[in-house]
This record gives sequence, C-alpha cells and structure tokens, in this order.
Amino acid sequence: MRIDIIAGARPNFMKIGPIIRQLKKFNDAHPAAPFQFRLIHTGQHYDRNMSDSFFEQLGIPEPDINLGAGSGTQASQTAQIMIGYEKAIQDWKPDTCIVVGDVTSTMACSIVAKKAGIKVAHVEAGIRSGDWSMPEEINRIVTDSITDYFFTTSEEANANLLKAGHRQEQIYYVGNTMIDSLLDNIDKLRKPDFFDTTLSGHPYIVLTLHRPSNVDDPEKLSTLLDRIHDALGDCRVLFPMHPRTRKIFDAIGREYKQFIIVEPMSYLEFMFVVKHATGVVTDSGGITEETTVLNIPCITLRDSTERPETIRLGTNELVADHSLIKGYIERMIAGDWKQAQPIQYWDGKTAERIVQALNNVRS
Ligand code: UD1
Repeated sequence: MRIDIIAGARPNFMKIGPIIRQLKKFNDAHPAAPFQFRLIHTGQHYDRNMSDSFFEQLGIPEPDINLGAGSGTQASQTAQIMIGYEKAIQDWKPDTCIVVGDVTSTMACSIVAKKAGIKVAHVEAGIRSGDWSMPEEINRIVTDSITDYFFTTSEEANANLLKAGHRQEQIYYVGNTMIDSLLDNIDKLRKPDFFDTTLSGHPYIVLTLHRPSNVDDPEKLSTLLDRIHDALGDCRVLFPMHPRTRKIFDAIGREYKQFIIVEPMSYLEFMFVVKHATGVVTDSGGITEETTVLNIPCITLRDSTERPETIRLGTNELVADHSLIKGYIERMIAGDWKQAQPIQYWDGKTAERIVQALNNVRS
C-alpha cells in the first residue's frame, strides 16, 4: 500500500507524528511487506513558530514534498493546495491519502485524492459543531462526504457518521492521535525561559484566541480582553498570540497590565505551561482535549463545540455569552471546577490501531 500523509497547519502536526512513528515501527517488524509512504506538507502554516518547531520537537521527518501554498483567502489557499497536490500525485500515485483534522489542507487534499481514485482515510472524522459559519465545519463535512475510512475519536463522532448514512464497517473507533503525542511527550515538556522570571510564581491562566468570530472585530476583541482582565485578581494571563490575532491586537494598541504576551509557543513549551496552569481560556478545539487529559480546567469561548465529550466527560465548559466570563474565571481561580473522567481509547495507542486497521484493509 502506498500512502500519502497530509499535514498543513499547526494542529495537524501532533496528529500525524504518532502515525508516522507507527508506520515505521510496522515496517521494521514486517520488512517483507512494508507500507510505502510520503509526508506532504501543504505549506498552509509556514512560520518557524507555527510549523518547523513542531517537526523538530515531535521527531517528525522532513516532508518529502512541501507544496508551499502559504496564506490567502479560503478559496485561494484551497486552490493552491489542490493544484500542488494534484501535481504531487502524478508520478507517485498513492492508494490511500491520510488527512487529519479539519483545516483547509484536509479538505483540499481529500477532494484531489478522491477525484484521482485514491482512497481517503480521515483521522478525527465525524465530529460536528453544527456551526456552518466556521470554515472548519465545512471542511469536516466535505471531507467526510468523500472519505472511505473514518478514524474516529468519540462515540459522538461515530453516531454523527451513522446518522449521515455512512456504514458501520467504514468506521474505526480508534481514539485520539493528539493524545498519543501528549502522552508520548509528557515527561519531556520544557519550561520556557521566561517562566520563572516573568511569572515569578504567580498563578496564571493560559489564553489562546484565533477564531475569526472572536478576533477579527477589534471592538469585540478588546471587550473580551477587558472582561478577562477584570476577572483576574492576583492571577496573570499568559497569552501566546496567534499571527491572525496579533494583527488586530496591535491595531487596538491597548495595554493589559496582567497579560504576558508571547509569540506562538513550541509544542513542548506550550504543553508545559498548560500542565502547570490554573486553567485555560481558549477558542481552540484541540486544546480542550489536551486539558481534559491533563485535568486542567478549560473555558471555551464559542457558541458550540465539535468535541462535546470534553464537556460531558472532561474539564471543558462552553461560554457563549461573554458577559458571563468573569464568573467562570473567578470559579476557575477558586478551584471550583469539575474533574475529568477517562475517555475511551484516549490512551496513547491510537496510531497503533490506525496502522493495524490499514494493514487489515490492504490484505
Ligand atoms: C488554521 C485552521 C484552524 C486551526 C488554526 C491553528 C483552517 C480553515 N483553519 O487557522 O482550524 O485551528 O489554523 O493555528 O484551516 N499566518 C502566519 N504564519 C503562519 C500561518 C498563518 O502569519 O505560519 C497568518 C496568515 O498570514 C493569515 C492568518 O495567520 O493571515 C491565518 O492563517 P490561516 O492558515 O489562513 O488560518 P488560521 O487562522 O491559522
């Protein structure tokens, strides 16, 4: 079986790392019947902070091909990736294309693969927010509509796929490769240089924001940041700022005394600061999975989540009405929060199950 593995944006990298490692392990154990595979980086994220540092720290090999798509509008970024990937499959036609998550690269490459007669394997299939204003929701639905092998993280995802008419035998409930990465690296987390000096022992909340609905309108963003700042008491906010957010934040030009604003952090440093935080306030999806496994309180600033299991079993609370944020943060700081329960198959062995399933379908 010839496999392409696609990665394009920051949240993809911790999902592909464990799959590549398991494919190599399988090949070492089965030299007579190895998987042939290539890693394709679409170039959607290209900064050192958003991409290269993740490859280094997660031990992901250099991509075989970089499509160099770069930034752009949704349509131009999608088009660049599709044109690049179509060229990449001319000479080395894979049987299967593995896409992960819900970013533009996921959707763009799955369409190219399917039209070329290549099977699509979607890792993190079936999750749904129901919010069609998010590009990620459209990416999920389009990708799943043409997926052949669905690798899922939750019971909810399985139910969504069955409801959409997909067959039970196409669905592989394998767990969460992002959690494979977290558990693999939990003893290697790195304390950032600024940690002891800048935070000097203060309790802190980690804040990440990058969704257009939270950051693109300067007034909405500054009101949100004011509300968070007002709730802090003695606590600090550590705010690794996404490039999209940085553009708007700089234009606002406001100072927040208790905020420590840093560049996007590397994987091992980011997970270190999350592990030692009082809590996390975010609009990311993946971080709600990591905080659940680490049992760190988490507030999600969105109207909906495609990961309801992080609320049902984990530490995540959805806060759609930003006027309520103060109360939630005060509760977080007071330590008045629910405890996480284990989630089935979020056990560090997901990539192993994926490779086993791929081996079963090829034989
Ligand atoms: C993308 C994903 C989102 C994911 C997020 C994590 C889609 C639709 N969205 O959103 O699901 O949670 O990544 O980061 O795929 N930029 C840089 N340097 C980079 C990458 C981006 O400066 O390395 C800037 C771009 O110029 C652009 C902005 O960040 O202005 C947005 O980048 P883009 O990849 O379009 O979407 P994200 O908001 O990062």
